[in-house]
Order: sequence, then C-alpha cells, then structure tokens
Amino acid sequence: MRQDLIDQARAVLERNDRGSYTVPTHGLYPFQWNWDSALSALGFAHFDEARAWTEIETLMAHQWEDGMVPHIIFHQNDDGYFPGPDVWGTQRDVPTSGITQPAVTGFAVRRIFDRASDRAMAERRARALLPRIHAWHQWFYRDRDPAGTGLVAILHPWESGRDNSVDWDDAFERVPTDGVGEFQRRDTSHANPEHRPTDEQYKRYIWLVQHFRSLGWDNAKLHDASPFQMVDPGFNAILIRSCSDVADLADHLGEPEIAEQSRAFAAKGIAAMEKLWNVSLGQYSCYDRSTGKLIDSASIGGLLAAFCAIPSARAKAIAARITTLANAARFTVPSHDPTAPEFDGTRYWRGPVWLIVNYMISDGMGEAGQMSVRDRIRDDSIRLIEESGFAEYYDPKTAEPCGGGSFTWTAAMVIEILSTQKEPA
Ligand code: GLC
Repeated sequence: MRQDLIDQARAVLERNDRGSYTVPTHGLYPFQWNWDSALSALGFAHFDEARAWTEIETLMAHQWEDGMVPHIIFHQNDDGYFPGPDVWGTQRDVPTSGITQPAVTGFAVRRIFDRASDRAMAERRARALLPRIHAWHQWFYRDRDPAGTGLVAILHPWESGRDNSVDWDDAFERVPTDGVGEFQRRDTSHANPEHRPTDEQYKRYIWLVQHFRSLGWDNAKLHDASPFQMVDPGFNAILIRSCSDVADLADHLGEPEIAEQSRAFAAKGIAAMEKLWNVSLGQYSCYDRSTGKLIDSASIGGLLAAFCAIPSARAKAIAARITTLANAARFTVPSHDPTAPEFDGTRYWRGPVWLIVNYMISDGMGEAGQMSVRDRIRDDSIRLIEESGFAEYYDPKTAEPCGGGSFTWTAAMVIEILSTQKEPA
C-alpha cells in the first residue's frame, strides 16, 4: 500500500515536470511557484537527487538583483492564468511576479543536503546556492523589517502563501478597490468558485499589484508605501528555520560569515516571535504593523510558528491546541479553527487542510519532542490521500478533495512522509 501510494505520487510529480521546473498542477497554475518548488524538491530527492537540485536552482536563477526571490516565474506564455506578466509589469527578460513567498528553500536545501547519497554533487550544488539563499534572507531583514524589529512583514496576502486567510479580513478593509478596472479571473474556470477567494478579495489583490507596479517595484519603497503590512508568525517561522538551516550548512561548507549572520537573524527572530503570542487564543497570531495590533484570528499561521525553535512551553501549548482542533474535525490540521464563525471547510485557506503545512507543523512538533501530535498529523495526512487522492486541499470534516487535482506538492509530501516514516512493527 505504501509503495503503491509512493508510486502514484511519483507519477504526479513526473506529470507536472517541465524539465527544469515543475508546475503546481496542470491548468490552474501553469508556471513555477516559489515555495511549491522548494517543497516539491523534497519529493524528487527520494528518487532523483539531481532533479531535486535542478528544481531549486531554476527558482534561484530568477532571483532579483536586490535579493528578492519572486513568487511566480512565467517560463512560458499561458493565458489560462490571471494575473499574468502584463499585469505585473516587472520588466524582466523571463517575466516574474513582483512579490515573494515563504522562504522555505533554505530548509529544503539543508534537508536534501543532509540526506544526499551523492555527497560530491550535494556539496557542489549546495555551495553554489548558499550565497543566493542568504542574499534573499538579507533582503527580507533589510526591506521587510526596516525598523529592525527581528520580524518581517508581508505586503500582499499572496506572499504568505495563505491567500484568503481570515487573518487578512480586517486589514483588507483598508485596501481600496478604486480604479482597479475590469479584469477576467481564470482560476474560477479551472476550479469550483466556491473553493476559491471571492471577487471582492480579488479586486484588492489586484489593487495592491497595481500600486506596487506604480512604484516601479522598488523594494526600498514598497514596505512604507503599502496599506497592508502584516507580520505573519508562520511566515516568520519558516524564514527563521531557513536561517538556522543555512547557518548549519554554512558551518559545514566553511562559510563563517554567512553562518554568523544567519544565526543572528534566527536568534533575533525567535526572541521577537514572543510578541506574537496571543494569550486569548492560546497560540501565536498575526500582528498588523499598520495598526500596531495583534489580530484575533485562530488560523494555522499561528500554529506553523512551531516550525522554528520556539520555547518548549510554547510548543507544548501549540500541541495542546492542535489536539483541541482535532476534536472539532476528522482530519488535522484545519487552516482555521472549525469552531470559529468564519470557518469554511472548503474555501481555500479558511478551513481546509493542506499537506505542506501539515508537514511543516509535524516536523516542528517532532523537533520539540511532541511525538504523538507529530504522528497524528502525519497519519491524518496519509488517510486524506487514501480517501481522496492528490488534491490541492481537503475539507477537514469530510475529506472532500478541493481546488486543483494531481497536485505536485501534495504528492511530494506523501513521498516525503511515507519514505521517512518507520514501517509499523
Ligand atoms: C495558491 C496557494 C499558494 C501556492 C499557489 C500554487 O496561490 O495559496 O500557497 O503557492 O497556489 O500552488
């Protein structure tokens, strides 16, 4: 059974492989996405190490001169997706979007490196990637944390990777829609509109894109000019974890300056995370930098914080929180608290379970010694696949498969989880 699932997952990766990068799924997402690629590389690494390195190299080859790594790379024309290169207008030879995504690449590279059987290839390829990944991290702490707080802000919900989370609802009230003009969404012709963000949200997404474009995508200006500046605990935890992993890798590869600065970023970030602890929710939550307030939204962003080395009392509280959520749903970890009024079990990031987030939370739980929660999340993830195939996301109460099908990073997580789990005795 396990091997059968691994084989099916591998076939999904191979189907979505475009040679030097993979698409998240055919149709709905026809280009290369940033954190999809990093996490998908983990899946490739189990059967083709060279291909895993290539995935990450292709992503990093499109890094901007200032260090930013864009969230989409438009390798080929495809008008089945909106907003395409003409809307972003970033003026690059190979067009890209102008915003970024969770920086999970440092973590992925370290993991692939640690497990690599071809040591010479791993050393060579990791060594070449290291300064690029570090430059991305430096960009974050320079341009997305200009006041030096230790935590970076996202300027667009798409940067979080959790596009329509309840977390952004209040702040989105401040994002105007004036002058956005007419546009034609494409996502709703590939997937059920009930599973996708609303038109109102889309207008605001596009307003922000147009606003940043009008500032020439100058990252020195965008942070202060954005009406949306959000400090997301999950996003920061991923960056912090990647900084720690880059530090260890840099030690190993003899790059002491990169190691030292990366370790300092991580230490400062972990200390600053404490500011995001939300006592009333019993978990971390987002902080709205524009209003200076914590947001009372019980989303998975606050649980994903466990992906970095938070204090053990916090990890324990997160484990307890996940156990509580498990009682309100059949499958952990719902992307929003099922008992909250905003919960919607099939609408994208407002309730459904996503395997990539499950993987990262379970990894953090394992690192913190919370083994039963780690195992519960992994088992639930595999049960979802057995019931409903390789979907983009799943209803945590019914296991209904939602969004796109044959999804690359879902398949990659299945390979990763099953290949690293011990066989039951
Ligand atoms: C959606 C998700 C985002 C992902 C992208 C491609 O926009 O919210 O996290 O990277 O699809 O799969």
